Amino acid sequence: MTQPPNRSIDGRRLPTDSGRLDAALRPKTLATYIGQDRVVENLKILIEAAKQRGESLDHVLFYGPPGLGKTTLAHVLANEMNTNIKTTAGPTIERAGDLVAILSNQRAGDILFIDEIHRLSRPVEEVLYSAMEDFVLDIVVGKGPVAKNIRLNLPRFTIVGATTRLALLTAPLRDRFGAVFRMDFYDQAAMEQIILNAARQLGVETEPQGIAEIARRSRGTPRVALRLLRRVRDYAEVRANNIITAEVAEECLSGLLEIDALGLDDIDRRVLTTIIENFDGGPVGLETIAASISEEADTIMDVIEPFLLQLGFLERTSRGRVATRKAYEHLGYADKMPPRQDSLF
Ligand SMILES: Nc1ncnc2c1ncn2[C@@H]1O[C@H](COP(=O)(O)OP(=O)(O)O)[C@@H](O)[C@H]1O
Ligand SMILES: [Mg+2]
Repeated sequence: MTQPPNRSIDGRRLPTDSGRLDAALRPKTLATYIGQDRVVENLKILIEAAKQRGESLDHVLFYGPPGLGKTTLAHVLANEMNTNIKTTAGPTIERAGDLVAILSNQRAGDILFIDEIHRLSRPVEEVLYSAMEDFVLDIVVGKGPVAKNIRLNLPRFTIVGATTRLALLTAPLRDRFGAVFRMDFYDQAAMEQIILNAARQLGVETEPQGIAEIARRSRGTPRVALRLLRRVRDYAEVRANNIITAEVAEECLSGLLEIDALGLDDIDRRVLTTIIENFDGGPVGLETIAASISEEADTIMDVIEPFLLQLGFLERTSRGRVATRKAYEHLGYADKMPPRQDSLF
């Protein structure tokens, strides 16, 4: 694969990301959580209602592109409900027995956070059904003719699930969540606030236009913003008196990292130019695009596409991906634009 190991605008966690800064910046409460207003409002109601009834929180599912705060919100929920949270991930729970072991240790009200929940194996998922719905575990003890079905009662716990791929979740699993929330890309104002807070934490001096410049190029994703801020901070230290101005941010992000004014990097641009130059603007299948630019289809689906769709640069049709007029214009292909074919869109 030609993918550079350290792509700055990847919303997924990279080994080079600072765990310490992340932990320091993670909002702990809904009141201090910046952005995702709709999700936050709904969570407040959910929490309030559970508290009034003296019950555990409903099972909650967060979905959306990486780096938008799903894991953070799971911890906020535990904090707001004053409960313990245990973290695991779909691929980590290998056998049904692993899940049984985890669940039988849950106490009333505890949260089990399952990241990448779309990657649970089918047998594990089936254990989860009755656990989530009826708070029981049906297990088989022994083998052959002496095998016995045993039903274990569980305390009322809460599952918080997170996924980048809602479509890969089976219907029975999705239906067992009382609340399902889509995480959106953050708007410019929220991004600026997050970056300003982080800059204060890092003790780096900034000008508002410098912050705005980083925010504009962070593709609405806090994890990307924090990463770009660190890169610009380093650049400012070495080249620019330690102050993040608009010029410094621009020089570093555009000149050094080749992230354009909208937050697109080289790979985003290659996806679009490939569709435009090699496939007449599309429609073209995801796998074909992936093969053409030697990139993993998963990366395109999770990291690249959501943002290009959000910008209105790409459309998903039943026959494949199509580059839009906006994409042609942004990449300087206005002259190659095909005549308007409304049927495509
Ligand atoms: N609303 C927010 N305010 C400040 N920082 C945030 C916010 N949402 C996410 N972050 C930061 O962005 C990074 C990614 O968040 P995370 O919850 O791990 O995303 P996800 O689980 O959706 O991939 C973390 O470092 C987190 O501290
Ligand atoms: Mg996460």
